Amino acid sequence: MSETPMFKVTIDNITVEVPAGTTILNAARMIGGEVAPPAMCYYSKLEGSGGKCRTCLVEVSKGSEKDPRPMPKLVASCRTTVMDGMEVKNITSPKVLDARAGVVEFLLLNHPLDCPVCDQAGECHLQDLSYDHGKEGTRYEFQRRTFKKHDIGPYIQLHMTRCILCYRCVYTADQLTAKREHGVLDRGDHSEIATLIEKSLENDFIGNVIDVCPVGALTDKTFRFKNRVWFLKPMDAHRDCPTCSGKVTLWNRGDEVFRVTARKDQWGEVESLEDGKPAWICNTCRFDKKKSSDWVIEGPRAISRQSVISANHYAGKVGSVKPTEIFEAVHDGRHPKIMMDIHAASEVNKPGIELSLINGPAHSTDFTGEE
Ligand code: SF4
Ligand code: FES
Repeated sequence: MSETPMFKVTIDNITVEVPAGTTILNAARMIGGEVAPPAMCYYSKLEGSGGKCRTCLVEVSKGSEKDPRPMPKLVASCRTTVMDGMEVKNITSPKVLDARAGVVEFLLLNHPLDCPVCDQAGECHLQDLSYDHGKEGTRYEFQRRTFKKHDIGPYIQLHMTRCILCYRCVYTADQLTAKREHGVLDRGDHSEIATLIEKSLENDFIGNVIDVCPVGALTDKTFRFKNRVWFLKPMDAHRDCPTCSGKVTLWNRGDEVFRVTARKDQWGEVESLEDGKPAWICNTCRFDKKKSSDWVIEGPRAISRQSVISANHYAGKVGSVKPTEIFEAVHDGRHPKIMMDIHAASEVNKPGIELSLINGPAHSTDFTGEE
């Protein structure tokens, strides 16, 4: 079998070598950080995703080594594969930043600015994007879209006005469940996520649509309005589940489990298991196992320092690691407490008094001998 050729691509002046067929977005993710364009619809674990939202636009300033002409328009990096010698600009291109601001403006035309009451606030990709690129005002003067309320069952809440039509939830239902019952109905600005005849989504794995939704259009009814995500402590935990991997993140406050989600990576996507398969979780783990005793807790989940969720969480941060004790080592193995104990040597105390037996804190009379 012939080996896949490797292509050199330079993104924001950083060169990486990637196998032919890699998209610009995935090449940029290999570099990481800000160089990776935002992606609201692409989801590496969902086949066919991408190409809907245009937030991942980049400028290709050199097509390839063989044909160095720049591409005439900005391209969607999640759908464009690299060529050998290609040069791409993301954050180094004012054109890209301007276009992205335009895309954000379009996404926000109809999206309500209801972050203060939205369960997704604090972990919403559109919220992050609008803080990065949005303008404080809107130029839109018309009425925003409204939709008839659609009940999709006891576990998942649909807020159609918040949907950006990224199709991720449709692909998830298509690729993970035996029968897809929702999809995008109608055309143009009437398009909406719905089931044709009001139906509830009840497949074992349908809860994963909540995790893939980049905004607050699909949220967990068992967690709705219960807490803000930044007050919760995310903990990795697992259980022996007959349906899924059982590897989850618990969102706790004290001992109380408020929410269970899949574990997400730095791109906000469901993490992969050791065998490379995505760790989607089943509805039982997500909605029914809400007691700490249901889970084996592994430890605090590392959350990006840029996220508001990491505020006041010390796991993995500088200052949270106990420094190495060197006192005993430099004092010949003597414990610090012994070094501090002047009780026996002092002339003002009563050596006969055992301080640990005194009822309450020691007082001057304990040392002077006065009763
Ligand atoms: S409901 Fe969420 S996941 Fe589904 S299309 Fe809308 S924004 Fe995307
Ligand atoms: S992430 Fe590329 S178009 Fe949406």
